[in-house]
Amino acid sequence: MNQFIVLKMMRIASVLCIVVLSLVGAVYSQTISTSIPKIIEKNGRHALLVDGQPFLILGGQAHNSSAWTGMLPNVWQAIDAMHANTLEVPIYWEQIEAQPGKFDFSLVNTLLVQARKHNKHLVLLWFATWKNGSSHYMPEWMKREPSKYPNITGKKGKPVDSPSPHSKAAMVADAKAFAEVMKYLKVADLQHTVLMVQVENEPGAWGSVRDYSPEAQKLFQGQVPEKLLKPEILKALNKPAVNKGTWTEVFGNDADEYFHAWSVASYIGYVAAAGKAVNQLPLYVNAALRDPISNPSASTYESGGPTDNVIPIWKAAAPAIDLLAPDIYMPESEKALKVIELYARVDNPLFVPEIGTGPEYMRYFYSVLASGGIGFSPFGIDDNGNGEKKEETEARLASIAQEYAMATPMMRELAKWSFEGKIKSVVEREDHAAQTIDLGSWQVTVTFGAARRSAVQANTKPISKAMIVQLSENEFLLIGTLCHFTFKPLGANSGKAWQYLKVEEGKYENGSFKLLRIRNGDETDWGGPRIGAEPAVLHTKLITQ
Ligand code: DGJ
Repeated sequence: MNQFIVLKMMRIASVLCIVVLSLVGAVYSQTISTSIPKIIEKNGRHALLVDGQPFLILGGQAHNSSAWTGMLPNVWQAIDAMHANTLEVPIYWEQIEAQPGKFDFSLVNTLLVQARKHNKHLVLLWFATWKNGSSHYMPEWMKREPSKYPNITGKKGKPVDSPSPHSKAAMVADAKAFAEVMKYLKVADLQHTVLMVQVENEPGAWGSVRDYSPEAQKLFQGQVPEKLLKPEILKALNKPAVNKGTWTEVFGNDADEYFHAWSVASYIGYVAAAGKAVNQLPLYVNAALRDPISNPSASTYESGGPTDNVIPIWKAAAPAIDLLAPDIYMPESEKALKVIELYARVDNPLFVPEIGTGPEYMRYFYSVLASGGIGFSPFGIDDNGNGEKKEETEARLASIAQEYAMATPMMRELAKWSFEGKIKSVVEREDHAAQTIDLGSWQVTVTFGAARRSAVQANTKPISKAMIVQLSENEFLLIGTLCHFTFKPLGANSGKAWQYLKVEEGKYENGSFKLLRIRNGDETDWGGPRIGAEPAVLHTKLITQ
């Protein structure tokens, strides 16, 4: 072969090689990048995409000190028993960076390996500068240097057990450690077992509305940053539009709290951005709530955290945070429903990362779905060694387990219907009164309690709930516990004669409805279909005549 032909063949071969390699690279990076969990928004509603499709987090959160190898068997037992698809679990700064600059990811690795073995996803909770307003998860080497990593000072000069958001050294250290965590996940979790990461835990301060240290005082007496003076932000905070001013001039009586919220959110925004720069997993911050109805004084709740009144401040200060999430420990329906309404915003996907356990709280699983929520996760699902008996733990989890067992085979469908706004729900209120749901051409009255023919046995506690998925004009899924659905023609159907075409009870399997039985006769007469203490799914078609 002459030299030219050999050279030409070599050139062709190398070009082919590059094409093949770049094709492989493209396919590879596509697989990785399309499968990274991601939150999307459409028409003001949100979905968490996992493997490219809407996913519903059926979660459970472990107790604070349970992410240790010896404790994990109890955690997985609970997660499996309650049919959860996701474990929310802390990872601890004090363990990960026990020595400055030396990172130990052995526990994170254990969580990844065990989650995959149990076929579950993870939401990791970065317990770092803030844990319930304090800094108890800072590594020892930081706790030993309080002048470098200070706490805040109260109004009367007293020390407060809450980290200062003005400590640059702490912020940089936290950001560095968090970025290392995110970097580790990027390499160790190509299959995206981890869906989201919570940055800190219930940040803010108890016991003082803000920091009154000399450094903080100087900042507080300075000008409000421009980013907060945008007309739309001032409007959202119910403050008059101004171009400049000190915190007190711009925010009046709310200045102390808003200053602390801005400071904490800016710090966490910095930490989150450092993590996002290396790994684009969704990030969120959870809130210790304030009473959502009475507009209480900031001295009565954890000030500076993402409570409903300062959401616009958090959004401006921490754009790397995808969502602000309410921890719901208010069983009363008026309050819990108000919280859900306040956090389901066009600019804030709804996710409930903590809620109490028990049937009264489980009502809100349905409300979250109807509000386009991406997930729900009761707190404290495992036995944490506080002396709870096995049967007690099981009883506490039973109401979650039955709902998640119902939802699991139709998880993708529920996530999609929630995203599309096809779900409506009602929860039994404390007065146990019947409620109505409007579905365009139909109105449904839902009554609560165990119903047999026309007699209803009222619940002692408000635990019933119902949801309706509208599949088409006259086709619905009725889901609930201890409830009774009565249809009435409405709007275009007003005054028309009608009947059930078919009421099928069953469940979803691999995307299609599988029949258990057709309900008819006593099971649909006497005012309509009823559901007992176990959740049921009723595929219901109506016909007008
Ligand atoms: C809310 C916190 O975020 C959790 O970590 C835990 O401390 C619970 N409170 C305890 O009820």
